[in-house]
Formats: sequence, C-alpha cells, structure tokens
Amino acid sequence: MSGDCWAVLPAAGIGSRMGSERPKQYIEVAGATIFEHSLRALLNSPQITAVVVALHSQDSHAAELAILSDSRVQTVLGGAQRSDSVRAGLQVLVTQAAPDDWVLVHDAARPCIPQQDIDRLITRVTGSGTGGILAEPVVDTVKQAGANGLVEATLDRCTLWRAQTPQMFRLAELQNALDQAVRQGWEITDEASAMEMAGYPVQLVTGSSRNLKVTMPADLELAAWYLQAGSVANRG
Ligand code: CTP
Ligand code: MG
Repeated sequence: MSGDCWAVLPAAGIGSRMGSERPKQYIEVAGATIFEHSLRALLNSPQITAVVVALHSQDSHAAELAILSDSRVQTVLGGAQRSDSVRAGLQVLVTQAAPDDWVLVHDAARPCIPQQDIDRLITRVTGSGTGGILAEPVVDTVKQAGANGLVEATLDRCTLWRAQTPQMFRLAELQNALDQAVRQGWEITDEASAMEMAGYPVQLVTGSSRNLKVTMPADLELAAWYLQAGSVANRG
C-alpha cells in the first residue's frame, strides 16, 4: 500500500573523530552497542515496515549482533560518503516500496532518540503530506566568524535550528534529490539539504536535545546517561 513507512540506517562510517579501536557505532553504551540502540528505536516503531542497514565493506562487528536477524532488518553495502550509504539503502527499498512511500533516514550514531520523537515525526509528516526532519531550536547566541578569528555578525537565533535525524521524505523524491546532488556536485551533509536544493519543502519537527549524534569521546558519557535515564523512565 502506498504511504507505508520504511527506514534506512547508515552505519557504514569509520568514526574517525571518535578515534576508538572500533567504529563508534560498535562501542557499547548502557548495555548494548550504539548501533543496536539506534536500530532498536526504529524497530520499536510499529509503523516502520522494514529497516535497511548500510554496512562498511570491511565490517566485522555487525554479524555478531542478534538484532540483525530480525525479520524486518535487511543489510546493504554502504559507500564512501554518508550520502552514498543512504543511496545504497534506498536502492534496496525501490524493489519493495512504492515511489510515494515514506522513508526515515536515521544515523546509527544517534542511539538516544526518544520513541515519542519518532512517533511525532511520522504523525506530522504523514498527516501533512510534507517531508520533514527532527530538529532542535538553537538556544545559544550564534556568532559568524570573519577573518582573523573576529566576529563578523551575530545571527538571529530565532530562525536557527539544529538538524537531527530521522529525516523523512517520499522515497522517489529523496532518490531524485540525492541523484541531483551527485550530478550537480552539491555538498550535502543531510538528506534535507538535498531536498531543499532540489526545491522540495522540508518541515521542521521539534525534537529533543537527547537525540545527540555521538561524535567525540565526551559524547559517550552523555549518551550513557540519557540511555540509562530512558530505561529507568520506561520501567517506571
Ligand atoms: N555513515 C555511513 N557511511 C559513510 C559515512 C557515515 O553510513 N560513508 C554513517 C555513520 O556510520 C553514522 C552516520 O552516517 O551512523 C553519521 O555519520 P558520522 O557521525 O559522520 O559518522 P562517521 O562518518 O563514522 O564519523 P566521522 O565523520 O567522525 O568519521
Ligand atoms: Mg562522517
């Protein structure tokens, strides 16, 4: 049926900024790997039909994880850039999903995503028919740097949001936008940038600061804190 929801989980990165002995998605935090927490959050969403996980060609850790045998999980080889991994995942979905089905793309490196944020995104996007992303209003005063480390301007933070994932768009439109990005050589760091540059509307859906992207070593402590707090809240 058209209008179904699917997901792609890019997990083919090497985590160079983390600098750990294994790719950061395979670091264990609060009783499971970062990868398992992120994938579990998607699988806990009953609206999501299946999840395609993009893995690195040299991956030696995923095979040990029982969650990969879940009947709703499929795997594909990722690519050199995050967007290549996402495109590989979409290519798998094309054979199973309708062109106007929805796809949620979620970073494997965001293990603390609250379940209600995924639900809110799906409700807003399917309810309005407009693709969207989870994002967080900027709370700090933001400076734009000029030459020599001097401030050039103070930006109006009322208009600024930090983009998170999941980012949710129609399958064919997202593929079209990412293909255009490759053809035109656009520098994109998320799906929404490709959609924006291709002229599609993108709605901002308020997410929570818990949904951090684990990037640097210090992020591990914070992620552990949120995951433990979340599991206590779920038990209560
Ligand atoms: N990713 C991917 N394929 C790539 C690069 C990244 O699937 N070629 C995934 C990562 O595994 C991660 C998500 O995209 O889940 C977000 O990327 P990022 O946080 O930048 O992870 P890494 O690229 O692994 O880290 P770094 O940039 O520090 O090397
Ligand atoms: Mg990266």
